[in-house]
Amino acid sequence: MIEADLLIHSAVQVVTCASEMPKRGAAMQDVGLISDGAVVVSNGRILAIGPTESIRERYSAGQTINASGKVVCPGFVDPHTHVVYAGDRIDEFEQRIRGATYLEIMAAGGGIVSTMRATRRASVDELVEATLPRLEQMLHLGTTTAEVKTGYGLDLESELKMLEAIAALDLAQPIDLIPTFMPAHAVPPEFNGRSAAYIDWVITEMIPAAAAWYKKSHFVEDGRPLFCDVFCEQNAFDLDQSRRVLEAGLAHGLPAKIHADEFTSLGGVGLAVALGATSVDHLDVTAAEDMALLANSDVVGIVLPAVNFNLGSHDFADAHALIDAGAAVALSTDINPGSAPCPSVPLVLALATRYQRLLPAEALNAATINAAFGVGLADRIGSLAPGKQADLLVLNCMDFRQVTYQFGGNLVEVVVKNGRIV
Ligand code: NIG
Ligand code: FE
Repeated sequence: MIEADLLIHSAVQVVTCASEMPKRGAAMQDVGLISDGAVVVSNGRILAIGPTESIRERYSAGQTINASGKVVCPGFVDPHTHVVYAGDRIDEFEQRIRGATYLEIMAAGGGIVSTMRATRRASVDELVEATLPRLEQMLHLGTTTAEVKTGYGLDLESELKMLEAIAALDLAQPIDLIPTFMPAHAVPPEFNGRSAAYIDWVITEMIPAAAAWYKKSHFVEDGRPLFCDVFCEQNAFDLDQSRRVLEAGLAHGLPAKIHADEFTSLGGVGLAVALGATSVDHLDVTAAEDMALLANSDVVGIVLPAVNFNLGSHDFADAHALIDAGAAVALSTDINPGSAPCPSVPLVLALATRYQRLLPAEALNAATINAAFGVGLADRIGSLAPGKQADLLVLNCMDFRQVTYQFGGNLVEVVVKNGRIV
């Protein structure tokens, strides 16, 4: 008998989502299902996984969970968030209800810049305090890893303050955070009408400072990257500016992510593919040629249906066309105060299955293993397999599809993070 720390047994279904590569095409429909399954955990990692009977013959553990009548699946990976911010945008929410559009509000000096004002005023401690309850909600809803962007500071001091807040939050609660530096999220008011000058400043001052900050941060020892991201969009940054930002990031060792094709297509997919970006995100208005380009690359396409839902739009990204084209598709909340105040991956699954016609299995793979590839950490998270981090959920249902079929409640009963029940 091998003695382990935790043994979860008798689950109606253990859903592994295991894959060495991002799942594409028909593979998205395979969740790696084990009936009457068990998972053994030791030292925060998965030791073994398989049918309950054979696992119990070989392993015992100090702590056990009887998951009969339940489903066990990987913890959700949320690969695109702006969860660190101060204030809220409830007034803009009302303006949108009355008919204003997101881009109109942004052009009138609201939007990202209004959150920037509140975030600049906040201290690191205040940002941490404002963000902790949101991360707590995310954890309750099954998120065990989340990428988090800066981009509400938009000056050197405030962007570094956001990085400090992300690092402090990572240590203060169970969800593992992956930092992304995004000073090119909007043009700050000091640079109004001078986006080229702002981009020069981002490249010569901000990115080097962020890279230096990262080298001293605890993220380095833990092998977690610092990504660099840019909002490639009308009223934000054009294709050439986006290229320069991401190239500067890459030159400083920051792998690339890009917000592309949310409202207008400026060629961001081609840029992501050319630069070998880790992900290209939004893809709401992506043309068929760009889908094919993406499909022939290792870049993960992250779609964010909570944004369309929140903006009251029916024009969702054609995520199923992306899957059919052969792209590696992931899902994310995009939690942020403007376009998606949504902490819930399960709600995103509900939206993706209805408005983007993803099958439950496709949606679940998109929020686990493919999302892990979307943050470059699929070697340690996103699936249940021996050696992987023991980040898993016990769902209060008998069929994994329930987690996409039901919405508005919460089927997540137990969250195990790094082998510990949290
Ligand atoms: O991903 N598109 C740009 N950034 C966010 C919105 C951020 C905000 O409105 O505060 C997004 O949708
Ligand atoms: Fe975003």
